[in-house]
Amino acid sequence: MTALQHVKLGTYYVVHLPRPDDFDFWREKARALVQCDVPPDRVAWVEPGGSGDLFAHGDTRLPTPPADAPQVRASKRFQQLAKNASLHSDPDRFALLYRLLWRLQTNPRIMEDKADSDVRKLEELDKNVRRDSHKMHAFVRFRQVEDEDGAEHYVAWFEPDHHIVRANAGFFRRRFANMKWSILTPRGTLHWDGNTMREGPPARREDAPSGDPVEELWRKYYASIFNPARLKVGAMLSEMPMKYWKNLPEASLIPELIAGAQTREAQMVDAGASKFTGEFEEKPDTLEAIDKAIHACRKCPIGTLENTAVMGEGPQDAALMIVGEQPGDQEDMAGRPFVGPAGQLLDQHLEKAGIRRSAAYVTNAVKHFKYVQRGKRRIHQSPGAKEIDTCRWWNEAERAIVQPKLVLAMGASAARGMLGKTVSISRARGEPIAMEDGSELWITAHPSYLLRLDGAAREEQARLFDADLAAVKERLDELAG
Ligand code: URA
Repeated sequence: MTALQHVKLGTYYVVHLPRPDDFDFWREKARALVQCDVPPDRVAWVEPGGSGDLFAHGDTRLPTPPADAPQVRASKRFQQLAKNASLHSDPDRFALLYRLLWRLQTNPRIMEDKADSDVRKLEELDKNVRRDSHKMHAFVRFRQVEDEDGAEHYVAWFEPDHHIVRANAGFFRRRFANMKWSILTPRGTLHWDGNTMREGPPARREDAPSGDPVEELWRKYYASIFNPARLKVGAMLSEMPMKYWKNLPEASLIPELIAGAQTREAQMVDAGASKFTGEFEEKPDTLEAIDKAIHACRKCPIGTLENTAVMGEGPQDAALMIVGEQPGDQEDMAGRPFVGPAGQLLDQHLEKAGIRRSAAYVTNAVKHFKYVQRGKRRIHQSPGAKEIDTCRWWNEAERAIVQPKLVLAMGASAARGMLGKTVSISRARGEPIAMEDGSELWITAHPSYLLRLDGAAREEQARLFDADLAAVKERLDELAG
């Protein structure tokens, strides 16, 4: 039976989406419809609350694809844009996505055609949605309220232009992991209690609290992160449209900050961007408390970028602590250390050496991802000596709790983070250093150094790395025995 025989000729199909942001549902139905050869002008995509009048007599029972239906083709570029674009508030977005998916079956390179009106539209939707998400990250402001049981609860009001609330839940969960918070929007609400995320129905502006003492905190926070060296008034106004100002307590500071920008810039150049003196408040004495505190840390400029602190992970009584440089792009998004390419390479070498990663405490010398934005990409930047030294405070707190017998520092930043001074990896590797707390520090190269090499140079460095790990394993066995 051909695909066409599976559809009733002349039939219009109506697909009711369960949620306006249900991309997975759309994809599943769209694939089946393509496999049944149902052309775009025979399908209506109706989201909740949307009008399906035009297709009032359409069939909501969709055809089943034949067993031998060909694979549905979707180029990488389409896949990259489609999910985001599906969150747009344009009621025609799902029809556009289906039209493009349909066209991709006969013209797999369509996404390369910059003049194609469907492609241009998809790119525009994707851009609008990304911009809306960026605004949500930047302009959500929490107000503190007290729950009935007296617990602190932070509540924010935000008005997104598109259906981005659910898609951004992970960002806020990672950034404010240890707070109880709610984000109320006219498109739905998110509630996080420190463990579980719940979703709720749309809210109204009056459901959210207005001014309270936290606003003072935000004002101070904003004034402290305001970097006059980066001040571009035009760009700032376009990034922070008037629409959002009413919800931003710090907006009242802007004229003053702009006026004082030049003086502050001169002061910053004099003093160096990091004014850290080596003193914080009291050291947290549990890993949970460190985790909470590093999320709020703005002691160096890295903490003020759009990123999330990444806490170390592993058993609290691990004999081995492995220290890297800083989280990368993937670690920042996942909220876990060493999950990206360097982490995967590290896992392979650890396994070869017989070291169980799950038995080690894995952390980084610097807890936030330092990067520069280039278009859509965040490009890794090495942390400076001052930034590493500032973060040492957290590593010492972690070490005091975990009390490892052996610390493996990978790369120059990790070595500096442990020693407080710069050492040469080639000279320091292979020779343990006795630390004040009784542990041994072993230094080796960073796995991302291996990733940057190829050919014979890569092989040689991999051999040295394996030799260092084998020595660490041997020493761990001795210390255990
Ligand atoms: N590189 C690091 O140093 N740490 C990570 O967590 C990931 C990559």
